[in-house]
Amino acid sequence: MQKNLINADRALDESMSVEQQTQHIEHSCDLLVIGSGAAGLSLALNVSDHCKVIVLSKSDIDEGSTRYAQGGIAAVFDDDDSIENHISDTLAAGAGLCEEEVVRFTAENAKTSMQWLIGEGVPFDQEHDQDGNVKFHLTREGGHSHRRILHAADATGKAVQNTLSDSVKHHHNIHIFERYNAIDLIKNEKTDNFCVGAYVWNRKKQSVEVIRAKNIALATGGGSKVYQYTSNPDVASGDGIAMAWRAGCNIANMEFNQFHPTCLYHPDAGNFLISEALRGEGAFLCHADGTKFMHKFDERADLAPRDIVARAIDFEMKRLGEDCMYLDISHKPSDFIVKHFPNIYRKCRSLGIDITRQPIPVVPAAHYSCGGVMTDLDARTNLENVYAVGEVAYTGLHGANRMASNSLLECIVFAHSCAKHIIKFKYTEHEQRPIKPWDESRVIDSDEAVIIQHNWHELRLFMWDYVGIVRTNKRLERALRRINLLKQEIDEYYSNFKITNNMLELRNLVCVAQLIVLCAMQRKESRGLHYNLDYPSLLEESKPTIVNKQHLDKS
Ligand code: FAD
Ligand code: SIN
Repeated sequence: MQKNLINADRALDESMSVEQQTQHIEHSCDLLVIGSGAAGLSLALNVSDHCKVIVLSKSDIDEGSTRYAQGGIAAVFDDDDSIENHISDTLAAGAGLCEEEVVRFTAENAKTSMQWLIGEGVPFDQEHDQDGNVKFHLTREGGHSHRRILHAADATGKAVQNTLSDSVKHHHNIHIFERYNAIDLIKNEKTDNFCVGAYVWNRKKQSVEVIRAKNIALATGGGSKVYQYTSNPDVASGDGIAMAWRAGCNIANMEFNQFHPTCLYHPDAGNFLISEALRGEGAFLCHADGTKFMHKFDERADLAPRDIVARAIDFEMKRLGEDCMYLDISHKPSDFIVKHFPNIYRKCRSLGIDITRQPIPVVPAAHYSCGGVMTDLDARTNLENVYAVGEVAYTGLHGANRMASNSLLECIVFAHSCAKHIIKFKYTEHEQRPIKPWDESRVIDSDEAVIIQHNWHELRLFMWDYVGIVRTNKRLERALRRINLLKQEIDEYYSNFKITNNMLELRNLVCVAQLIVLCAMQRKESRGLHYNLDYPSLLEESKPTIVNKQHLDKS
């Protein structure tokens, strides 16, 4: 029986019939952008005057974390603030692991990037100053020493996503492929550090096609869906990280998965975030009886960076045996709350919680992958023509803990630098060797989908329990043993059965889980988001954890 080979080689063998070969569909472009969030669309828009771009989106174009972003985007716009402040706040939140050059590069390019977004039409909130001049309203979040966050009420991501997707739809050089899953990058047969395109699964036709590309940018977002509880949408299954890893990219700092302290705790809430901007505007965390507790954990109390706040909530929940903690903003005037947080007000109201009068039940949930595919300042990976932009990437900006509202910023800043690099250095015609078509002739429809469903739940549950906010060596070892077993089962399933979305995502999630645990085991200290009871203190010297091809060969 034909196998869906594990490393993107599931391609035609000599015995494939002529009929099968003629079914082969191949597209081509100068730049293939895999992902249609803030990172992917900004990149596409910035190169599209120079070349033909295909943008892939495995769901609708607008579905991704970007659309759900609430708080806003950090950039220095206030005269009392400075780029140096933005840099030092980011470095402090990153707990000694940020790369200073990258932090500086991002902070220095923040304003121009925001001006580009404003030029594209993103409607950031404005207000009148004392002299009657119009200026942007800036809010505050944890870790920021100044008001620095541009926002569109409490639905900033929706404003960004809608604006960018409207723009790309009108661009003749950008071709949008919705409901297409990238499966794997296709390596050049001769040169190991080079890719010639990607195998992609057309979900409507349920068939695999080839996209040949001179350059490829991964913009697939993060992998927080590897945890049982997450603020992220379903598409956040770490596909880009897994594909890059299989293709031989270096991956770094995967142990630093950020847990957002305040997701709505309600059986009918789905994955709904309660923005940190509420705390920026005066909300405080408390027990059911209203007792505040954050001052016991950090002098910045409710505005401490996220790792500290999430651990404090976890600690209090476990200490008191409670299912959740509470976030209270009801002391602020009702019209202020409704004006600044209309989306959160409406959602809570629909579930019977009036945030102008009562505290909001909250729990931490997996929110953001600080680690990812290693890149330089131009978003280049170690594969020559493969880039990674946005949450999929590890640029060095976030270190051991991302500061709030620095993520959308990173998407836009690096989309710009990536675009400049592609325009300046690439588009040389690469050698046009034939790409082997995908062969599905000898796989069958699954009659065992229960395996996927079972493994899916098992993986996400033990990742939450063993590799969550607080870790131990034993828990990590247990998790790795289970991951290795699951990986075998899933690889075997992938080899034998026709592709489904759940199968592809699970194959990637188990890879992401493995990378998180491998990185976590390498770190012999507790720092930022990684807290291991067996190594509770900080090492004096610390550096990023990097996993590369040698680990791949052993795993
Ligand atoms: P995404 O926006 O997640 O887009 C990923 C894209 O990749 C999607 O189009 C998806 O379909 C596509 N994709 C994935 N896999 C495949 C595949 N195999 N084949 C084809 N396509 C694929 N950050 C901030 O800075 N400020 C905030 O206020 C903020 N609030 C947040 C609130 C919530 C609820 C969440 C979940 C995140 C928030 N973040 C915030 C984080 C931020 O939104 C994300 O880090 C950022 O939007 C990531 O953008 P992206 O373009 O990298 O990926
Ligand atoms: C939030 O609004 O709390 C999310 C901000 C972020 O993740 O940067």
